[in-house]
Amino acid sequence: MATIRDVAKRAGVSVATVSRVLNETGYVHADTKAAVKKAIEELNYKPNYVARSLYQKSSRLIGLILPDITNPFFPELARAVEDVAHQYGYTVVLCNSDGDLEKEKHYLDVLTQNHADGLIVTTNRQNNLNYINLNIPVVALDRPLHESIPEVCADHYGGGKMATEYLIRRGCNFIAHVRGPGQLSPADERCRGFVNAAEKAGVPFYIVESQFDITISEQKVSELLDTYPRIDGIFAGNDLIAVAAVKVALKRGISIPEELQVIGFDGIPLSACFYPSITTIVQPIYEMGQCATKLLIQLITNQGVTAKKHCLPVKLVERETTKRMG
Ligand code: RIB
Repeated sequence: MATIRDVAKRAGVSVATVSRVLNETGYVHADTKAAVKKAIEELNYKPNYVARSLYQKSSRLIGLILPDITNPFFPELARAVEDVAHQYGYTVVLCNSDGDLEKEKHYLDVLTQNHADGLIVTTNRQNNLNYINLNIPVVALDRPLHESIPEVCADHYGGGKMATEYLIRRGCNFIAHVRGPGQLSPADERCRGFVNAAEKAGVPFYIVESQFDITISEQKVSELLDTYPRIDGIFAGNDLIAVAAVKVALKRGISIPEELQVIGFDGIPLSACFYPSITTIVQPIYEMGQCATKLLIQLITNQGVTAKKHCLPVKLVERETTKRMG
């Protein structure tokens, strides 16, 4: 494999000149620059990015740590991060932590040891001290990391409240919230919105804790409907839980939305193409990823940031699992 010395020899210049061309630093005559680039092409020279990042003190790498890339919510988030990072000349290193803190810490170590310029993190553990006092900027995406770390998220509380008020307006008299995992901020906030709306309306309600997972949620919804067959509305903590609820109800011969209404959260593509299509609270997933990446690049390039928390609005999309007005 060609080295920088081979390029210098082929171009008839010093190694330092080749380095200046590669790092776009210092003055190099146009003819010399052309000769160096011609030598690079002829030799198929590939710069050593580790050495280059040490020289430039910038690897142009952004670490993206996500908890579960099999959940359709996260690939859309990653797509937005990668689009913006690429636009600004950064390469994204995607890390799937499985919500495992040991694995997450391993990825954090690898990224920092490889001089990542910054991190975007969706973690299952709030107040995670591993991310404090790093020598690179961090942005928390979807879930808070620590009060000192900027965050980009959707309005989880407002979405939970909106979903619940909607079910009540659609005539539900006994509603359940099949929520995401405990101690997870988005799930906690959606649940808080649900409880506040149900209590304010004086509508009886019940809460079941599940996971953001179809199979587990099918079991939880089955137990719920066995125990409380009079449930006529379910606010699901995310769209995968909503799919599980609809599946269990239809297998039991419960008609949707006539006997049971279901509303989800996220707005993943599956919610629209599932039959019946799922009424849901749509998160601005792509915009969240864009916002987090632009925020991180501002921090990397020391442009400062306007606010520590960016909470983006959600919207309700009516489909076939809830009753139409009128
Ligand atoms: O579906 C995955 C869930 O985890 C989403 O609701 C998202 O907000 C994340 O918290």
